[in-house]
This record gives sequence, structure tokens and C-alpha cells, in this order.
Amino acid sequence: MLKVLFIFGTRPEAVKIAPLVSLMKAHSKFRAILCSTGQHSEMLQPVLSFFDMQSDYDLNVMRPNQSLAGLTSSVLNGLDSVFAKVKPDFVFVQGDTTTTMAGALASFYRFIPIGHIEAGLRSQDRFSPYPEEINRTLTTHLADYHFAPTLTATNNLIAEGIAAEDVFMVGNTVVDALLWAQEKLRTAGPLRLPPSLSNVDFSKKLILVTGHRRESFGQPFVDLCHAIRVIADTEPVEVVYPVHLNPNVMAPVHSILQGLKNVHLIEPLTYPAMIHLMQKAYLILTDSGGVQEEAPSFKKPVLVLRNVTERPEGIQAGIAKLVGTTTVRICEETARLLHSRREYLKMTASENPYGDGKTSHRILEILEARFSEGSQC
Ligand code: UD1
Repeated sequence: MLKVLFIFGTRPEAVKIAPLVSLMKAHSKFRAILCSTGQHSEMLQPVLSFFDMQSDYDLNVMRPNQSLAGLTSSVLNGLDSVFAKVKPDFVFVQGDTTTTMAGALASFYRFIPIGHIEAGLRSQDRFSPYPEEINRTLTTHLADYHFAPTLTATNNLIAEGIAAEDVFMVGNTVVDALLWAQEKLRTAGPLRLPPSLSNVDFSKKLILVTGHRRESFGQPFVDLCHAIRVIADTEPVEVVYPVHLNPNVMAPVHSILQGLKNVHLIEPLTYPAMIHLMQKAYLILTDSGGVQEEAPSFKKPVLVLRNVTERPEGIQAGIAKLVGTTTVRICEETARLLHSRREYLKMTASENPYGDGKTSHRILEILEARFSEGSQC
């Protein structure tokens, strides 16, 4: 039996590995072992519970407002001890967080083969998203198996010199997770929403906002909060903003947006509650990668609060638009979608370009084939 160690630390990583973990747990050939770095603490646990997952190891590295260097060294050190104990045959990392990069580096140091899920995303700007663009580039050059979600991602990997036989275009597991979650919610009975949503007037057009990128800290964040303030003051909408726990996010958001009747600043939502709100939203404003991938499944237009994106597929399909972080541009683009039915419908016309819900199956099959009949990776 092959010992496969999944390393993850933030909420989106947990969501995106969940379907593959579940498949592996049911498979006689593999033993899935879960190691959380604990990069996120309170935001991670609800996802694990929702998907019936439990960490076998938790490095518990989260410290308030800690530096990237501090976080990276804690993850590296912690993982090395876990590797010494578990002696995994294979390691999976997902995405582009500090956990991803440090997980790949720690595995490489111990000569453990690495599978990178969601490989090949590039903005081609090393400081945006920061530090994710460099995290995922380094991870690529540490990994052995590259599970790319799209053709663009596949081509990015080949262009960087990765051998074509090690690159697998499989889609993004985010869609597997979404379909699984929707199925779970259908059978679970009515969803209990947090009390912080009880004052939301759902008869109005709902704008869902998320934002947490490091490269936007400071003035860009202030500008985008001002945009939300103007929109809330001038349009008959309800704004729901689950505020990320990073103090660099919480401070400007609360100081600029607190006290507006139609702006609801709430705690980070659980995954099912977030799905529910995406379904209810008229429009989504976000700098999150995962939300850009999920929104097309709900046919919701996304205004991307960034200057570049490593997820060009949504932009090319016309269902997402890069609007940056300036107040005027965000207000203009939002108003256009609120007032022009034609513009709105144009942004809801395409299928989800990021996956079809079968990505985890494909990854499992690839691993099975590579490890069959005693072959080594
Ligand atoms: C991290 C990832 C980012 C990912 C995002 C998903 C890095 C560098 N960034 O960003 O790629 O898109 O997660 O959410 O890996 N905090 C808490 N409680 C929590 C989580 C965070 O208090 O549960 C606060 C802490 O002060 C922490 C700070 O947020 O130090 C920053 O957290 P960190 O994980 O470094 O970066 P994120 O902005 O969350």
C-alpha cells in the first residue's frame, strides 16, 4: 500500500484536496495521510469537518500577523519531523500558498516524489499575486507530477521546460469539490446561515465581496473599500463582505465600511454558507483565485479586483473582467452590470472553463497507472 501524504494549510487547499482524499481513502492501493500545517487555524477546521476529513498531523504554525519568512521556516521544520515519522512514498501539495511551496521543498530535500495539484498558473508578474506567483513557480521546479487545470496552464509548464510526459491536463478539483458540496447540501436539509446574515435584505441585488491579497494592502485596499462605499451609498443593493482575518485586511475594511446599513461586514463564512451566498449573489467582486473558479458554476459575473490574473480563462470566456483596484473603475464597472441587462447577460453565458467535476478521478487514475506493477515514479 502506497503511503500518500497530503500537505495543506489554508482553507482553499483543504477544499481542493478534499475530493481526491476521499477517493484515496476508499481505495485499497493507497493510504491517505493528512498533514495540516495550520497556516490558517479558525478558517480551516470548518472545511475539514464539512468534508469529513481529519488531520493526522497538525503543525499549528499560525501566529498573528507573522512574517512570510517565519511562516516558511516553521512549515519546513515541522514537515521534516513529520516526514521522519511517516516516511511517505508520495506527497501532494495544492496551489500556491507558502504551505504549498515549503511542502514541496521539504519533500524534495527528502527525495520524496511530489504531485502538484493546480500546476502551471502564471500571471507572469512576480509581485502579483505576491508571494503566490513565485510560490507556484518554485513548486513547479520542485515537483515531479504536474496536474494542470487548463491548456494555458499546461503550456506555461512546457514553456518553462517541464517534460511533457510529466504534465497532465486534468481540470481543477475546485469543481469536483463544488459538485460534491452541492450534493451534500441537497441531502442535508436546510442550511443554517450565520446570524450575521439575518439583516440582509435578499430581495435586493446582492453584491458579494471578498478581498485579501497582499499586493493590495495599503492604498489599493483603501481605494477598493471607497468604491464599495460609493456603490452602497448610490445603488439600491445589499453588499455582503466576509472579512478575511488578516489584520491588514480587517483594519481598512472596518474603518471605511463600518456603519453602512446596506453593507454587511461579517466573519469568514463556512464553505457551504459561501456557496449559498454565491448562488444568491447578483454580482461578485473578488481578488480570490478560488472564487474566480467557482463563480462560473453559478453563472455569476465576476469583477476581479486585481491588475493581472493567472486565471485568464474566465476573462477570455467573457464571464470575468479585470477591473483593478481604483475607486472610479470599480464603481463604473459595477454600475454597468447593475443597469445594463445586456451587459449582465453577456457575462453569464458560458460554461465553467476550469473543470468538469472529474479531475480527482483523473489524478487517481494517473497515479494508479504510474504505480502499477511495481513501477516507481
Ligand atoms: C493565505 C495564502 C493565500 C491564499 C489565502 C486563502 C500565503 C502567503 N497566502 O493568505 O495564497 O489565497 O491564504 O485564504 O500562503 N489569520 C488569522 N486566522 C486565520 C488565518 C489568517 O488570524 O485563520 C491572520 C493571521 O494574522 C495571519 C494572517 O491572517 O498571520 C495572514 O495569514 P496568511 O496565511 O499568511 O496569509 P493569507 O492572507 O491568509
